[in-house]
Amino acid sequence: MYKVISAGLSAVIVLLSGPAIAAKSGEQVYKEVCQVCHAAGVANAPKFGDSAKWAPLIKEGQVTLTVDGWLGVRAMPPKGGNSSLSLQEFAGAVAFMARSGGAKWQDPDAKMLADMQALEKKKLAARAKK
Ligand code: HEC
Repeated sequence: MYKVISAGLSAVIVLLSGPAIAAKSGEQVYKEVCQVCHAAGVANAPKFGDSAKWAPLIKEGQVTLTVDGWLGVRAMPPKGGNSSLSLQEFAGAVAFMARSGGAKWQDPDAKMLADMQALEKKKLAARAKK
């Protein structure tokens, strides 16, 4: 009986921990998705490590800049062109790149992610009205 319960519990634990393990770090996402454009500055993308380019963007604030990139802005494709990314993963990659340009940004916590989702909703609603 104990064995059955314990086997069942392990299965549940594996299932629950799955998504957490699958979430990619900002650096990983940068290397897999963003680097293609942001390493060399393709189409005038702010280059990794170019603090002069990143300074004005960092001033916009982490929530605003992340949501603008997430929704796409000018030549920057929404989600960096990879629709399988979660907002959390995308935000981690933005923080990673911003740090390369001098920001002290950390990966967003739950509260900041909620702020990002709220701003995303607001911007989508504003776009729908246009
Ligand atoms: C296909 C090329 C391309 C890929 C891939 C790409 N970007 Fe960009 N990104 C751009 C370009 C070009 C700009 C500059 C947009 C402009 O100002 O015209 C930009 C701008 C940005 C900005 C600044 C947005 C602003 O408000 O000015 C952020 C943040 C950003 N990218 C994050 C990312 C992240 C994170 C990834 C990976 C998940 C990524 N990008 C992948 C091309 C790309």
